[in-house]
Amino acid sequence: MRLRAHETVDHVRPGQGLVGNAALMSTAGAAPVVNPNPVPAQPTLLDDGAPVPASGHNHTEQHTGGATGLESLEVGAGRVRVDDKRIINCHADLNQLVPFKYEWAWQKYLDGCANHWMPQEINMNADIALWKDPNGLTDDERTIIKRNLGFFSTADSLVANNLVLAVYRHITNPECRQYLLRQAFEEALHTHAYQYVVESLGLDEGEIFNMYREVPSVARKAEWALPYTQYLADPHFHTGTPENDRKLLRELVAFYVIFEGIFFYVGFVQVLSMGRRNKMTGTAEQFQYILRDESMHMNFGIDVINQIKIENPHLWSEAFKQELIEMIRDAVELESQYAHDTMPRGVLGLNAPMFEDYLRFIANRRCAQIGLPEQYPGATNPFPWMSEVLDLKKEKNFFETRVTEYQTGGSLSWD
Ligand SMILES: [Fe+2]
Ligand SMILES: [Fe+2]
Repeated sequence: MRLRAHETVDHVRPGQGLVGNAALMSTAGAAPVVNPNPVPAQPTLLDDGAPVPASGHNHTEQHTGGATGLESLEVGAGRVRVDDKRIINCHADLNQLVPFKYEWAWQKYLDGCANHWMPQEINMNADIALWKDPNGLTDDERTIIKRNLGFFSTADSLVANNLVLAVYRHITNPECRQYLLRQAFEEALHTHAYQYVVESLGLDEGEIFNMYREVPSVARKAEWALPYTQYLADPHFHTGTPENDRKLLRELVAFYVIFEGIFFYVGFVQVLSMGRRNKMTGTAEQFQYILRDESMHMNFGIDVINQIKIENPHLWSEAFKQELIEMIRDAVELESQYAHDTMPRGVLGLNAPMFEDYLRFIANRRCAQIGLPEQYPGATNPFPWMSEVLDLKKEKNFFETRVTEYQTGGSLSWD
């Protein structure tokens, strides 16, 4: 497509009616550098802020990979074809959403928008009364609420930062990025929801938000995840070699399959169990909406992982699979420990051994979803009602009193 002068964007670089590829692409985030050792093919900024292509940039480099992976598209060049699109290490223009290649990613974006909700829409009055009543909850029940707010209040920020600062720039597909942007906003809503509960209940915000530095079972989960983000957020890290592409895959498994797919689930069961017993129903409802979002995040991540595998089968070696299996097994141990620490005596008819069963059951499912052998044969689900909460088709309209009508935004049934 040819850009005329009046169509160019001032803050990019208006010039002779055309926007140079390097300038245009510098606004699209750092798309892929396929060359793993790409000394400065990145666009540089002049003092006046106008981006210009790095010197020495030419067509030869375009075919061997450059700073953005987009140098092979000149203004006025041919249109993007579906066959040009790849989920990682793509050379096609990332600013053009269509034609779609990955319909599943676009559909998840639409589904995420259709499920929009806001934390303030949920009535917290019953929770406030119960929390302030000295006889309203046992100490163990209060511990469950506080530990989970402590874990999740920073966990969702870790996920959001990982998405925006690490994952986004390496996923080189616009429909997937469209979903990542939606997911990033949903993570912000989740952090907002925890803040809203903390504020509603009048909890000590320092105690809750700093818990991942103070309570070992909370800290261990955050510590486990952080190194994966650090790898990918390094500006010198680029995909394009089997070693680095595996680092990306490993990180996607760490965050989507383990952090969001295993580490969230003890907390979800605990808080939703309280709601099912008519305690802290507002908080539980917040967690229901979050769980609905999270299950979609995890499914998106699994689709991304599987698509990378399809396009790059050489990455999925036996040694790499074994490494992922070890990660998942370690995570089940860590999350079992979290279950013990959050409910040492058992509460609400729940106890830590039930959570061990549950974690093994969901770990089997996660393994199957990404094509790994199930690790815990015969594990059963002691919380079948969780599957019902997760079933998005069982929505009914809770929000009769909502001020804003979204496209759908229905709620989920407790029963
Ligand atoms: Fe989240
Ligand atoms: Fe998430």
